[in-house]
Amino acid sequence: MRAASVLEADEGRLPVVASEPQSASGLATRLELLRNTLRPTPHVPLAMEGMNLFAKLEYVNPVGSIKDRAAYWILKRAAERGEIRDETTVIESSSGNFAAALAAFTRLVGLRFIPVIDPNISGAYESFLRRICPTVVKVEKRDDTGGFLKTRLQMVKHLCATTPNAYWTNQYGNLDAVEAHYELTAAEICADFESLDSVFIGVSTAGTIAGVSRRLKERYPKVRIIAVDTEGSVIFGGTPRKRHIPGVGSSIVPQLLSHAKIDDVVSIHESDTVEACRALLRTHGLFVGGSSGTAFAAIKRYASRMAVSNRPTVLFLCADRGTAYLDTVFDPAWATRLE
Ligand SMILES: Cc1ncc(COP(=O)(O)O)c(C=O)c1O
Repeated sequence: MRAASVLEADEGRLPVVASEPQSASGLATRLELLRNTLRPTPHVPLAMEGMNLFAKLEYVNPVGSIKDRAAYWILKRAAERGEIRDETTVIESSSGNFAAALAAFTRLVGLRFIPVIDPNISGAYESFLRRICPTVVKVEKRDDTGGFLKTRLQMVKHLCATTPNAYWTNQYGNLDAVEAHYELTAAEICADFESLDSVFIGVSTAGTIAGVSRRLKERYPKVRIIAVDTEGSVIFGGTPRKRHIPGVGSSIVPQLLSHAKIDDVVSIHESDTVEACRALLRTHGLFVGGSSGTAFAAIKRYASRMAVSNRPTVLFLCADRGTAYLDTVFDPAWATRLE
């Protein structure tokens, strides 16, 4: 293997550091090195009446969210199968965290990456992607549900058809994402907890809930998995409506949902997400993003339905930090505009 070389450093972007062309197995080896940065994330206790509540801090992952796990595992598996090689251009539709993780990891191992984003992306993520990726495609047209997902997916299809050696990581239907959470996220939970009564998980592509629920049900047969969605999302059959907070909810029913073992669903209005994010900061000192607040709001709503006499052990995931939500969830003026 020859030393890495700087290939590109124009238009204010960070230089892309890539190795000389290598075999698919060389790529797999470089990806495997990433494993060292994906260390187990901590869980912390939060004071809450009637239960032993814990938050697993997924924002500690190297690029800053739970999506680091799926991005790493999907790339690793694809490289092992020879589906991606040094000449591959990875293409993906993402409103933020998954694109950020792919951008960082593909750059690290010397692959090209084209993220397809939409106007709902936070300014911080868009700047990050534009610094790192030579091409960022932003769709502007809303689809028939009022969201952008279908438009983004059409663009992905177009780019895959017109870009040589394109590879779509397909976070919406990739079973490697489920395996990532089974092997990484859920394995850590099993190592950390003797027993668990309820786990609340925000859903978007359903990769997290599918992988985590499958492993937790094996380890704790009586655990209840509560899926957390946002009002206006269609994942569990709701009426589609414009949503503003990324990371939780979807305008399609994700393929991976059928792999999840779910006991109940709670759907949260975005104004309750805002309140819960602020409460997590104010009361517990956790500065976390929209899906974390949505899960916390669901726990508070659900509390009366849990057997509090036994002080159940309850866990939720803090999927990302609050930084990207400063101009939305944490801005009082923005929040008053929510219907
Ligand atoms: C902040 C955040 N929370 C939760 C999720 C949901 O995870 P999944 O897509 O695995 O359902 C996402 C997905 O993008 C996310 O970005």
